[in-house]
Formats: sequence, structure tokens, C-alpha cells
Amino acid sequence: MSHTVKSYSNEPNEYSDFRTSQEIRVLNFEKEQADLLHFFSNEIACLGGPQNHYASDKVSFFALKIKSTFSVKQNSIIKDYINSLVSVLIFEDMKDFLMECDVPDICPPLFLIENHYDILYLGSRNQLLLKLVENEAFAYDIDNEGKLIRLVANFKGGGEQKIFGEPATVELSSHAGISLGPHTEAPYNCCYRSKNGVSPSPSSLILSAMWNPASEATSIIPVSPILNKIGIENTLALMLNYFNFTRSDSFSNNNATLHESISIIDFDGSKGFSIRFNSYRFSVDGNAPDIVKKAYDEFCNEINLSQPYQYALTRRSALVINNYRALHCRDIVKDNRRILVRLFGVSNGIESNIISKKPLILKG
Ligand SMILES: [Fe+2]
Repeated sequence: MSHTVKSYSNEPNEYSDFRTSQEIRVLNFEKEQADLLHFFSNEIACLGGPQNHYASDKVSFFALKIKSTFSVKQNSIIKDYINSLVSVLIFEDMKDFLMECDVPDICPPLFLIENHYDILYLGSRNQLLLKLVENEAFAYDIDNEGKLIRLVANFKGGGEQKIFGEPATVELSSHAGISLGPHTEAPYNCCYRSKNGVSPSPSSLILSAMWNPASEATSIIPVSPILNKIGIENTLALMLNYFNFTRSDSFSNNNATLHESISIIDFDGSKGFSIRFNSYRFSVDGNAPDIVKKAYDEFCNEINLSQPYQYALTRRSALVINNYRALHCRDIVKDNRRILVRLFGVSNGIESNIISKKPLILKG
């Protein structure tokens, strides 16, 4: 699935439509707030980052301290995200922390870079930013070896430039450099409460950049305008349990086709609507009524026609994507030194299958 995309750059005139979108909010930190965030992020990184037993308690305390400095406008931006009224929240004007090492000539292997202090710092800052929007950072037990910090980079090949020892077959995951079509994050079994022991999909994902030398963008497609385009009847048809999916390569027992018969859209009295979809893993069941098959075709078609918003992350910014109401995707990785730091967040009121509280590990 290819997309033409709306461009985002640092030139104000070119991204005005991004900034005025009803689905996107931007929170700019004041200098003193950025200093405070920097100080607290260092405190957590010194403990070893989000994986540390005491990190979540400290983050709760630090988030309260930062929130106490928020203006009325900043509070209202945060509230819109918490109430799931928007697809994306962008944090900007954070401190450009001192890097222990500059952009290298080649991307280091995962095992060398994942415990680098700057990665722990960014992971800690992301955990704190998630807490500002009342999301608890977590990992699934069967994904990413239960680690809360996931590095999104071309460690496994498939990018525009070949890596050393590039394998013939490249896995379909954020650890490879291939382009990824529009999707929400797995698992896809349920949205709000555990089903057959599997926890709901993440409420949010947060991304920031360790290195992004070619300013490569992350793309986001808010779903609400797409549902408005396909109309009420098609939207209601997507709420029926006639959709199947295959498992992510990131999950340990991979590639098994699950005839789970799930819906694409769920609705909850307090959370509003939520979506689960993956353009390269979902299909409509052969036994589905024609009205459902037609709805699925129209939905996929509108996604294909949509123009994603693009945002190139820097060390001074972070993207929080509402996994209930936005799809995200990316182009093939062009500069293999690009490393993004990703964490998942679960919001209040979601009923998960908890395996460990500190750090928070959920059954996937
Ligand atoms: Fe993703």
C-alpha cells in the first residue's frame, strides 16, 4: 500500500494544516518545565530506566510535580488526549540533552546500544510523558523479551541501504528497515478488557528519536475522518466479529493465523470508539455477509486514499499516538543510523491480565 503524504517540516507555513488538525495537539514546554523534565528523566535513567522496580513510583511523583507547573492551555491539551478526543499529542521544546556519543558512522548492534545511557534517558523521559497523559508504561510478556523500551531501527535488514550480513528473508517488525503499512499496535484480540487471558492492545505508543540524521518521518492516519467518509452503515458493519489476523513477528509464537473472528471497531461508554487494524495482517472472513465484505473493502480503500500526516522526530520532541483512534506507518528506512525509542502505555480503566506490577508486564 503506497501513500502520498502531507509534508511536515520546521518551516511554519508548510505544516500549518498539521497543527490545525482537529485530531492533533501540540504541547510546547516552557524552558523551566523542560529543565525539570530533564532533571527527572536523568533521575529515572540513573536507576536503570523504566525497567527498574522503583521507576513507576518515581514517575508518578515527578509527573505530579510537572503538572503543577502547567498553564490552563497546557492542561486543556493534556485533557483532550486523556479523554481520547484526539489521535496524536506532540511534545515539543524539550531539552536537547548532552549526548554521550554523536551520530555514529554505522548503527551499533542492538545488544550494544539498548543499555546506552542516552537510550535509558529517552526511555525514562517517554515514561514520564506517558504518565502526564495518565498512561502507565508497560511491556507484553511475549513481545520484545518483556522489555519496556523497544528500539525502532534497522537491526535486521530490509532498509534502503543493506546492513552487514543482510539476511535473505527480513522479519516484518520495527527491528527491520522495511516499510510498514498502516496499522495499530497488536495484540488484536481485544481493546478494553482481557479476552481469553490476552491483554488489550496498547492505549498509546510514544516515540522519540535517539538519532534521525535524515529527518525520516513517522506517518499517522487519524481514523475518525475515514469513518466519516465510509458512513454509518459501513462503520456499524466493522463492529461485527468477522475479521481475522495473523500474529506479529515480534511475538514469540509467530505467524500462526488466528481465526479469532474479531471486530475492527469497538465502542465503550467511557472510552468512545476504538479500532484494531493492520493493513498487512488483517482479512475479512470468507463467511462474512456481503455487507461486511463491502464495508471492509470501502474501509481499506479510504485508508489507501488517505494522506497521512508526517512528523520527523528529533531529540527535542516526542509523539504520543492514540492507538485507539489512529493508524501509523512508515517508509523504508533510508539512513540506517535512525534509532527511535518506543514505549507502550495503558490508560486508566483498561482491564489487563497483569503478570508483574513493577515493572508493569502484561500477558500478550
Ligand atoms: Fe507500529
